[in-house]
Amino acid sequence: MKIAFGSDHAGIELKLFLMEHLKEQGFECVDYGNYDPNERGDNYPEPGRKVAEAIRAGEAERGVLVCGTGLGISLAANKVPGIRACVCSEPYTASMSVRHNNCQIVSMGARVVGRELAAMIVDTFFSSTFEGGRHAMRVDMISQIERDYGMEKA
Ligand code: RB5
Repeated sequence: MKIAFGSDHAGIELKLFLMEHLKEQGFECVDYGNYDPNERGDNYPEPGRKVAEAIRAGEAERGVLVCGTGLGISLAANKVPGIRACVCSEPYTASMSVRHNNCQIVSMGARVVGRELAAMIVDTFFSSTFEGGRHAMRVDMISQIERDYGMEKA
């Protein structure tokens, strides 16, 4: 599986750790930035958007985003039609975000979770499977909101 990674300056270190962690398990990991923790203007909306667009374009199947809280970068990703990104601070939510919500992106806060907890979160996220059925109907109701606002479904 190919995974797209993105972070702002606050999330670079945890992002690089998680990329190595998942590479060791055989995942193909691609970094969509940002790359320099000291760079001026190193903001979270761009990497959130880039990772979401990579998934929408089929360049990657899933994504991992990291900023200070996981919030800003996930909010940006969720603006891309068809993308569902969730902030997770523990494995239960990471599991349910896939099993019930069919999220493609897991987002974390580097100022919230430590390395070991973050590794547990991504391991849970990537070992979970969408259950479909009644959950598919509910996820499509989310897509319907996008269609109602003139945004096509991914
Ligand atoms: C940067 O200070 C911080 O605002 C950012 O990393 C993120 O937490 C925003 O949601």
